[in-house]
Amino acid sequence: MIKVGIIGCGKITEVRHAPEYDDNKDCELVAFFDNMHERAELLAKQYGGVACDSVEQLLAMDLDAVSVCVANVAHAQISIQALNAGKHVLCEKPMAISVDECNAMIECASKNNKQLMIGQNQRFANAHVKAHELIKSGEIGDVISFRTTFGHPGPEGWTNDKNSWFFDKKLAKFGAMADLGVHKTDLIHYLLDDEVIEVSAKVVTLDKKFPDGSPITVDDNSMCLYTTKKGALGMMHASWTFYGEEDNSTIIYGTKGCIKCYSDPKYSLIVERRDQDVEYLELDVMTSNKEQTSGGRVNTFVIDSFIDALVNKTDVVISGKEASKAMRVVLAANKSSEINQAVKVEY
Ligand SMILES: NC(=O)c1ccc[n+]([C@@H]2O[C@H](COP(=O)([O-])OP(=O)(O)OC[C@H]3O[C@@H](n4cnc5c(N)ncnc54)[C@H](O)[C@@H]3O)[C@@H](O)[C@H]2O)c1
Repeated sequence: MIKVGIIGCGKITEVRHAPEYDDNKDCELVAFFDNMHERAELLAKQYGGVACDSVEQLLAMDLDAVSVCVANVAHAQISIQALNAGKHVLCEKPMAISVDECNAMIECASKNNKQLMIGQNQRFANAHVKAHELIKSGEIGDVISFRTTFGHPGPEGWTNDKNSWFFDKKLAKFGAMADLGVHKTDLIHYLLDDEVIEVSAKVVTLDKKFPDGSPITVDDNSMCLYTTKKGALGMMHASWTFYGEEDNSTIIYGTKGCIKCYSDPKYSLIVERRDQDVEYLELDVMTSNKEQTSGGRVNTFVIDSFIDALVNKTDVVISGKEASKAMRVVLAANKSSEINQAVKVEY
């Protein structure tokens, strides 16, 4: 039985980590910590286990693994602390806030011989898994271009905090680009078995404001033009200002056809082969923030995959090294916007 502790007991823990660990028969939730102690207490009461008074107290316990679900700026420091304490780590995205931090996490996992997984859950969505399989088998030929979008009305409707850290540069460091753009960038790497090597971007704050009317200190929209190593060209839009329905769609255009993921409310995957009938697949529905915050229970398969790797002593499927590639693109996009020029991504 894998014994698990969770650090950070906010929304993502409430709707995903805690219930998904609880549903997994190979693990047991034994400890919780949050700066807001009452949140840890609430979860300990609901799932069993101890509400700890500090990260150190939690890490001193007999645990195999830890989920790190705190504000972005603390991901690296807490993950490193946990790895050095001999725990396997599942850290939420965005992995960290700098390349140096990503490298330090990867090195620390390797030095301690522990697994480090990053919660890039888009890789587990059914239509993405199927699209990956179809692209790999050559169903749409060589990929020419793509368009990927992740937009919703913003994190205010997601967290339980009115004055959420998501808008505060000191705690979040980045806005929509690292919150949503990192998902879609990682997804492109996965779907295409490729890497973004150059980015031209506008990473901007167009609409969101603090209660006093001043603009938030992180971006609320990011539009990026990506070039990949294999030569594909694509657009990525991450937005916190889609005030209608959430958009979580990705379209890949190849020499023999095109694949559309989550672009249609009914058919999560549409395969349009050149000069052939269109194939409509009803695999699943992408769960929106709206559904999850109104009590909808989902399984993102992130936790099952993490626990599965620990039980079977295999490598996690989304390693720190793999996820850090998307973070490098996020950082390059920020740089591109800052200097108003295309930026090469350093790997
Ligand atoms: N995979 C996904 O799709 C997804 C979705 C939402 C959030 N997230 C990520 O999960 C993380 C948490 O987000 P959330 O939505 O749960 O936010 P949240 O504000 O609801 O919860 C964060 C919790 O962490 C606590 N916290 C913050 N810094 C801490 C620290 N240094 N030590 C201890 N506790 C600390 C806060 O008190 C709060 O309870 C973020 O990094 C976010 O990007 C991932």
